Amino acid sequence: MTDRKRVVISKEEIAEKVKTLGEEITKDYKDKNILIVSLLKGSFVFTADLVREIDLMTRVEFMTTSSYGHGKESSGNVRVVNDLHVDVKDYDILIVDDIVDSGNTMKFVINYLKELGPKSVKSCVLLDKPTRREVEIEPDYCGFTIPDLFIAGYGLNYGDYYRNIPNIFVFEDK
Ligand code: IMP
Ligand code: MG
Repeated sequence: MTDRKRVVISKEEIAEKVKTLGEEITKDYKDKNILIVSLLKGSFVFTADLVREIDLMTRVEFMTTSSYGHGKESSGNVRVVNDLHVDVKDYDILIVDDIVDSGNTMKFVINYLKELGPKSVKSCVLLDKPTRREVEIEPDYCGFTIPDLFIAGYGLNYGDYYRNIPNIFVFEDK
């Protein structure tokens, strides 16, 4: 924990944004049957906060996908590591993830879940790095658009650590 960090989004800013997203989702899904599909592991902190701002009967399930190794680059080769074990036919799925970067993960998961025949599929991310996009995808709900920075904290990891840091930060050069 001795690395030099620069906070780019404070925990107060995150909390305010998550509240707004929750209110918007509550309004939009009022007459729907929402099923949150949270993509582990990066989304676990965001999902925990977001679902508590959604004032609806909400089902929450998890999937694990993998495309990153332990470094900072995504590979386009997305795999399902832990599958969803739910009949989704009656549900309006909202995929929740920490960030859309290349877009490979979100694009893959949207197509994968659509194949299962739900009523609808939409996406919600806390962060978007649109300048890094490799495939065409725009999240339906997005907290913050950020420049091409490698960030960590609030669920996002670097080398499998830092997920527990309450704000979003970048590493400063020593
Ligand atoms: P994509 O498939 O390239 O869009 O990447 C999606 C996944 O990569 C996200 O769900 C994150 O888990 C991870 N990721 C992307 N950018 C960052 C970052 O700046 N820090 C940490 N993880 C990241
Ligand atoms: Mg992820």
